[in-house]
Amino acid sequence: MKADLLRKKFLEFFAGKKHKIVVSDSLVPAGDPTVLFTSAGMNQFKKQFLGQITDFRRAASSQKCLRTDDLDKVGQTPFHHTFFEMLGNFSFGDYFKKEAIAWAWEFLTEWLKIPQDKLWVSVYKEDDEAYQIWLKDIKIGKDKIVKLGDKENFWPSEAKQKGPNGPCGPCSEIFYDYGKDIGCGKKDCDPACSCGRFAEIWNLVFTQFNRKEGGSLEPLPNRNIDTGMGLERLAAVMQGVKSNFETDLFEPIVKEIVKEAGRSPNLKIVYVVADHIRAMSFAILDGVLPSNDNRGYVVRKLIRRGVNNCRQIGIKKAFL
Ligand code: SER
Repeated sequence: MKADLLRKKFLEFFAGKKHKIVVSDSLVPAGDPTVLFTSAGMNQFKKQFLGQITDFRRAASSQKCLRTDDLDKVGQTPFHHTFFEMLGNFSFGDYFKKEAIAWAWEFLTEWLKIPQDKLWVSVYKEDDEAYQIWLKDIKIGKDKIVKLGDKENFWPSEAKQKGPNGPCGPCSEIFYDYGKDIGCGKKDCDPACSCGRFAEIWNLVFTQFNRKEGGSLEPLPNRNIDTGMGLERLAAVMQGVKSNFETDLFEPIVKEIVKEAGRSPNLKIVYVVADHIRAMSFAILDGVLPSNDNRGYVVRKLIRRGVNNCRQIGIKKAFL
């Protein structure tokens, strides 16, 4: 299934669950000094999460995102990017864990028909409520639920300890199992392992706290839902390929780079170039020009890395 259709189906599914479909925000978040770039679907809804805007209580979007946290992993793994699209559904003091989990499962297994036995989940180690929903309502086997800690299953990651301030909470992630033949091959390999066998496709965040300066977690007036599913990862699963770079989202770009490079270039380098081309294009489209500071510096760095990687695969002319 093509990525365009996946995006459409996702929005249709949540429109059917009475969500307002909201267009992607700019990569440059308006009036939010806490982040350089829009890095998640929830960014544009912070006021709704804090109960400061109350005109709608359910929303869904496909948000363009830019993150530099994973810069070093780009091209080295099949799943990491600087620029990507995040499919998300959100509840602002409306539905909570039960519906968020049930609808994610319904979308993946009934609308997309992903076989149930290919899906595993993780929950925050102290979140027995989410654990019980997966076990009793969804009826996932105990052996397919893993309990993880503040780094993996709290969002933002380790927010309790390190911040940033703002809405946060425990989360539950859904993983696609590429099978025993991929990755480390260990018998006890599970989603906690980063060998590549398990691709995290959807993160369901149960946003119930506001982190304040100094690290205290205040319960929010309303309990919220913030989910994010990587369109590129979902496309890889649905197109039966093992790497996001082999999906229709990347394939035409990758093909052009390979054509220009000639003589079977190192694909890891090709993938870095493909990733950076998307990131710099969307950033420039949203008004960020290369410069020496802040956002502009990120774009400059992406261009520089893109050019250097092009040179490594023999592309010398102005290509990006
Ligand atoms: N905000 C969460 C994330 O970025 C879920 O969308 O993973």
